[in-house]
Amino acid sequence: MTAKEFKRPDGRKKDELRPVSAKVGIIPNADGSAMFSTGDTIAIAAVYGPKEHHPRNQRNPAKGTLRCDYKMGSFSVTDRIRPGPNRRSTEISKITEWALAPVVMLEDYPNKVVDVHIHMTQADAGTRCAGINAAAMALAHAGIPMKDIVSSIAAGKLDKTVVLDLDKYEDSEYDEGEGSTDIPITFTPDGKITHIQIDGKISKSQLKEAIEMARNASKEIYEVQKKALKEVGEGKWVLQ
Ligand code: CDP
Repeated sequence: MTAKEFKRPDGRKKDELRPVSAKVGIIPNADGSAMFSTGDTIAIAAVYGPKEHHPRNQRNPAKGTLRCDYKMGSFSVTDRIRPGPNRRSTEISKITEWALAPVVMLEDYPNKVVDVHIHMTQADAGTRCAGINAAAMALAHAGIPMKDIVSSIAAGKLDKTVVLDLDKYEDSEYDEGEGSTDIPITFTPDGKITHIQIDGKISKSQLKEAIEMARNASKEIYEVQKKALKEVGEGKWVLQ
């Protein structure tokens, strides 16, 4: 198949996002909460804190700790997922902390912790990105001091063509030519990268193209996040 004849399995353009939506304030008991969805992937995030950090031996006397916990619901994919942590959820929880850390300002909260619980209610690829987007909004909603929010999206490659926002079929089952490469990336609103991962093979020049494609899309996502935050009114959220 030549690049000219290239067609995505679901008919999207190379640089087309799946439909995106966001809502803030979905869990009344949380200090902050949000939902973010891309296509059939739906993430919800709930923030509790800053609060006393337990266990004590993990306290940081210099600043507060951001603690993220990513979970896929057992019902989120067609094959039931076994509940409880596993290697993948532990990795994504850490990645989420690192993607958010550059914008979260916990200097005034020594020995405290901010807990971010992320649940995937439906998973059709791109879940770490959707989780990070929901978490960023939930943190802002909780009034946690932040430089700004972050926006996360995957670009990648199907055979020889760079594409945006792979769905599960593209991510896991596409096997034409060179197969698929998935590159989740998180950006600040001014386009700086706070997180990037590469699952698959890609050349240096196509990696640059993928990063640019994701950077452009992250601006669209940022607008959706900002709109959802504004919809909850003046509320608690104040970005620094
Ligand atoms: O979801 P994300 O793209 O961030 O991470 P992944 O590890 O590349 O997973 C891609 C997709 O595979 C997930 O979104 C799920 O749809 C699916 N998956 C699954 O069906 N069962 C699992 N145990 C893990 C992932």
